[in-house]
Amino acid sequence: MTKRFYVTTAIDYVNGEPHLGHAYEKVITDVIARAHQSLGEEVFYLTGLDEHGQKVQQAAEAAGLDPQAYCDQLATTWQTFVDRLGLSNNDFVRTSGARHRESITAILNHLNEEGHFYKDSYQGYYSTQQETFLTDKDRGPDGQFDPIYGEVTELVEENYYFKLGWHQQWLIDYIEANPSFVYPSCRRNEVLGFLKNNTLEDLCITRPKSRLEWGIPLPFDPEFVTYVWFDALANYASIPAALGDPILNKLRAPNLVVDSSLSLWPADVHVIGKDILKFHAVYWPIMLRAMDIPLPHQICVHGWWQKDGEKMSKSTGNVVNPLEVIDEWGLDAFRYYLVRELDIGPDGNWTDQGFQARYAAELANGLGNLVNRSLSMLNRYRASLVPKPSEELATAVSQAVSEVKKELQQHHLQAALQTIWTLITKTNQYIDQTAPFKLAKQPDQKERLDEILYNMVETVRVLAILIWPTLPTTAERIFAQLKMDGSPNRLADAVWGQITEGHEVGKPEPLFPRKDLAK
Ligand code: MSP
Repeated sequence: MTKRFYVTTAIDYVNGEPHLGHAYEKVITDVIARAHQSLGEEVFYLTGLDEHGQKVQQAAEAAGLDPQAYCDQLATTWQTFVDRLGLSNNDFVRTSGARHRESITAILNHLNEEGHFYKDSYQGYYSTQQETFLTDKDRGPDGQFDPIYGEVTELVEENYYFKLGWHQQWLIDYIEANPSFVYPSCRRNEVLGFLKNNTLEDLCITRPKSRLEWGIPLPFDPEFVTYVWFDALANYASIPAALGDPILNKLRAPNLVVDSSLSLWPADVHVIGKDILKFHAVYWPIMLRAMDIPLPHQICVHGWWQKDGEKMSKSTGNVVNPLEVIDEWGLDAFRYYLVRELDIGPDGNWTDQGFQARYAAELANGLGNLVNRSLSMLNRYRASLVPKPSEELATAVSQAVSEVKKELQQHHLQAALQTIWTLITKTNQYIDQTAPFKLAKQPDQKERLDEILYNMVETVRVLAILIWPTLPTTAERIFAQLKMDGSPNRLADAVWGQITEGHEVGKPEPLFPRKDLAK
């Protein structure tokens, strides 16, 4: 049984609207998932929804609905969003589902039996918006809590706490000994700085039922439900456990069957945004360690998108609607811009002009034109039949392939696209310089023309394979136009010379229609 490459996104709050930030995270995770598939691995990609907590309870009440009915309604919007992004996810977790709840119950019982929890009374401030307790340390210089916390109320209540302090030094040592655990390194330094300069406060893992009913009941005290973050983080393991991964036996409800052929855990990469780093790089590893379950290999932290240099906000109308962009420009153009514009790590800035410029220069005039002219010339000058093999571009192409391979392995997705587009530009230049359209008028240049046409079409075939993780639909369309069998989803096929003499290609169809922007 080989372990599958297991990659996850954060699970989105069900009561929010799907926006550019969510789309970005899901798309880069999809590119990582597809890259590993292309590299020949079996992959499991999990995304889904975070459905419990006070915000959802309040929103359901306001809508006059039972929270489960409210979540079921919103979940369809999110499912549609996932479909529209063309994701290759293998499962979709909903934290209000039975599969997840049963694992959480098992985790809570286990940790309680092993003495990781205690009950205590707390007096302080609570932000419903962020579902978190605050202290006076969270006040700004003006004595007020930051507006991101929304309304902050003072309360006194009993709750269960998870002993984090036990694990603080271990976690520091672990992160220091495993430099790639938190990626990129600036985020790793942020976590280490936090751990070294603060004493970890124990984590409050419950909410009294009197205040919040919409959560997973605490199995050993019916007066409480589980804190939404404790519940949400465990989704990464609850689904593999429910599917039967033997390494997660401890998390499995007794009625579920072990699937000895399934190996998902530990997760290879959790892709998350920078705002939820502490939950993933501090609380989650400690939860796992307390359960004696291996840690994920990597927490991969992306930055946040702005629009036109400002925070996106529905109230000011400064938003990018992913579905509108996809409707107007096509899914692959949207995916391309996200990955090409912003490397995983820093913050990004969406501008419509930037998007349109990349569309015109890199997609329409770059890739689209290359595919189009390669197929048209082959159609026109050689009745669609591939001439005999030539190796003129073989070295340049195989160098690009091995670079892209390395870049994809390291999840340098932006760099991979840069390498691919350098090859596209060079190939377009090769065509301009060798001028097959002129040679076609000179009968004594027949052999030279054959060589050039072969190099063009074979480069296009390899390019389809290279772009597949990011632009899967375009890659498939190129393969269809080339009349290649199978899918361009295997890097192992990006070897020069696989398109054979005499193979008949199809007609070119525009991949990225030029837009009249003046309209
Ligand atoms: N439900 C929690 C995550 C629980 S994970 C066990 C949550 N949900 S969220 O809907 O608010 O955010 C989901 C993801 O979207 C997070 O990783 C967050 O960083 C990301 N983004 C939200 N807005 C974003 C941008 N403007 N830009 C990029 N990503 C952003 O947090």
